[in-house]
Amino acid sequence: MTLWGGRFSEGPDEALWNFTVSHADRRLLAVDVQGSIAHVAGLVKVGLLTAEEGATLTGGLTEIAGEAAAGSFSWHTSDEDVHTAVERRLGELVGEVAGKLHTGRSRNDQVALDIRLYLKQAADERINGILGLVAALEDQAGEHEDTAVPSYTHLQQAQPISLATHLRAHVAALSRDVERFRDAMKRLDVSPLGAGAGGGSRLPLDPAYTAEVLGFSAFFTNTIDAVSARDQATEYLYVATQTFVDLSRLAEDLVLWATTEFGWATFGDAHTTGSSAMPQKKNPDIAELTRGKAASAIGDLTGLLALQKGLPQSYNRDLQQDKEHLFRVDDDLGRALSALTGMIRGADLHPPEPSSWTRALDLAEVLVERGLPFREAHEVVGRLVSRLVSEGRELGDVTAEELVSEHSLFTEADALHP
Ligand code: ARG
Repeated sequence: MTLWGGRFSEGPDEALWNFTVSHADRRLLAVDVQGSIAHVAGLVKVGLLTAEEGATLTGGLTEIAGEAAAGSFSWHTSDEDVHTAVERRLGELVGEVAGKLHTGRSRNDQVALDIRLYLKQAADERINGILGLVAALEDQAGEHEDTAVPSYTHLQQAQPISLATHLRAHVAALSRDVERFRDAMKRLDVSPLGAGAGGGSRLPLDPAYTAEVLGFSAFFTNTIDAVSARDQATEYLYVATQTFVDLSRLAEDLVLWATTEFGWATFGDAHTTGSSAMPQKKNPDIAELTRGKAASAIGDLTGLLALQKGLPQSYNRDLQQDKEHLFRVDDDLGRALSALTGMIRGADLHPPEPSSWTRALDLAEVLVERGLPFREAHEVVGRLVSRLVSEGRELGDVTAEELVSEHSLFTEADALHP
């Protein structure tokens, strides 16, 4: 079924149908019905529907909402999109009055509304997912306040830090992602319902009222922008992608930590996978796929931006493609967050002591505290390091007497040697 047969003398060509119909919007069913129920309330309020018509339509839509929740809604391949499917089903349930549902509305403002309703909910879920991961990282950090590890720069051992500090670096980044999701929600929190096809309607609609019924803080300021703007959805996708990039950095740590060479982490059997060939293998696939899906997210974000570049005002069918980019990344992100949370919770972290070389800056700063300019202190310790390397020794091997003879500002107590 289509919602536009009148001016056509023949039905759609099969190839057109196969190319133009997208099922990606089926997941908008629940929010589409929610939007329609509010639209009906608005039409009743302004007198475009009688109270009785409103009650009939709302009854039918509520039944469809039940079918959506139960997963029993029956899709017809002949329905052009989710909006058509709902109107078709409403007709089956309540008869001819279903034809009044689309009064003062277009699929252009309808789909813009659906995306906003959907992403507002999704943002809540993603925020909860991130907070769950943050809680898992915080729990591990709490267990490892006193576990010393080397910090790294250039993937070379740098300074000794607490493993808790390292874990909380990821917490800090993820906390900003939560903030960013909250911020993106502000731009999503504007109802486009009432903008119609883009030029509004001569009917006395009340977009402020429907916005309020749907829990939006505001309604559109411009009808053309309301149906054509996807920057709020793009912002959501950027935040999801940034989160993925942050997750990919955590994932890379986990992959490294699980190596025999690092030996920092053992992950639970339930959170690792095996090799079909090598019986000894236990692979951190969750982390690897997080890196991999972060790459796809970057591609989808780029795709959504490219979709809008140079697009004429206002609605164009190109915009139908927004959903594929959004849903793919959002779904992946939800799954990555819960898989990584399990992996972190099930991890046994047991990093070896950092090498004594990581104390070189500490030693230089001892001299600085005693008045030596940092540049000189750096030289002194640098020369010591160079000599030790040539002797095949480490910083921790330097004896107290040796250290004192290295520079008069050192005392025997400064030696790292036990
Ligand atoms: N399937 C369309 C989309 O996702 C819905 C809006 C269609 N509007 C139209 N005038 N054909 O963007």
